[in-house]
Amino acid sequence: MNVGILNSGGDAPGLNAVIEGAVAAATARGWTVYGFYDGFEGLLSTPEDERWKILTTENCHNIRSTGGTILGTTNKGHFTVKSGVDGRVEIAKEVLDQSKATVERLGLSALIVVGGDGSQTIGLELRHIGLPIVGVPKTIDNDLGATDYTFGFWTAVGVVSQNLDRLRTTADSHQRIMVVEVMGRHAGWIALYGGLAGGADLILIPEIEFTMEDVVKKIELLKALGQREIIVVVSEGARIGGQLITLNEETKGEVRLGGIAAFLSTKLQTLTDIETRYCVLGHTQRGGSPIPFDRVLGVRCGAKAIELIEKGEFGHTVALSRTDIVSMPIEEAVKKLHLVGEDSQLVDAAKEIGVSFGDTHSAYGGPF
Ligand code: F6P
Repeated sequence: MNVGILNSGGDAPGLNAVIEGAVAAATARGWTVYGFYDGFEGLLSTPEDERWKILTTENCHNIRSTGGTILGTTNKGHFTVKSGVDGRVEIAKEVLDQSKATVERLGLSALIVVGGDGSQTIGLELRHIGLPIVGVPKTIDNDLGATDYTFGFWTAVGVVSQNLDRLRTTADSHQRIMVVEVMGRHAGWIALYGGLAGGADLILIPEIEFTMEDVVKKIELLKALGQREIIVVVSEGARIGGQLITLNEETKGEVRLGGIAAFLSTKLQTLTDIETRYCVLGHTQRGGSPIPFDRVLGVRCGAKAIELIEKGEFGHTVALSRTDIVSMPIEEAVKKLHLVGEDSQLVDAAKEIGVSFGDTHSAYGGPF
């Protein structure tokens, strides 16, 4: 049997682990794996311009420890999709036809799509034209409702936490406010877990509305208590007065987020008269080697995808449910974004230990 695999959308640490897991499980069954280059674009192969390679246990040996993806990926190209709850798919008919022709020409019995909600929605479109698709959820943002955690997320959280440790010492030396911008799009998970792990004083996320007044109150309170450095972690998708800060650029029809740390930094320095600097962690959160959890999750997801193919469970995606890898319809998986609940235990716990979310309730919260 021949099966294909592709990565799509932004990369995430653990993609190579998924590939290695799938290749090992497929090879054990005597199957051949075609790895498509650069996301769905690889499906636009022609005999004159093949955009795939055969993946073997030899050329995938121990790639689970490496970052990025050996196949390449893209969030641009011919397969345009707008991600989100009301995702809109716009794939030209000739692109769909050519994808189908490639799958038929190579005699693929299944195609594994490793991607976030946008990519899974593209996978569904391919499913609708009859292609045997199996999904593997991927994103550092951890915003997929289908799965408890996506691989890459905990690596990103680790990067945030390690960097907060570094930024704290320099902020302490200079008695500064340090505003640290992290990824996550419209979900605050990276900021919340990274901020909690790294001891942030304030965590500003898209799901909890904050006011400058309450942010300043918290900073003044900490200063009055003699704290030298103030660490503010802010999600790229957090809003100021309901307004997103963007880079005025688009990727696949979505606005590129970013810039809120610079904006906040200037504001805070003016409002508090405390020297303020900012740091945008950006793609450091996506690059580099995956941590053990993401490697293990990745290889498990890859191997489970092969099991779904064997059972003929097409149109399904693998998902982590507590400690098990389960399967569910892709439709279900992309229906709802997984966002931080304002009244979640995690938010409550953070408030208990003195973290402010810049909302009125937590400005004075904590052990003081
Ligand atoms: O979805 C993953 C993600 O890293 C987001 O957190 C971020 O907004 C976006 O991708 C960045 O995308 P790009 O690589 O196109 O800049």
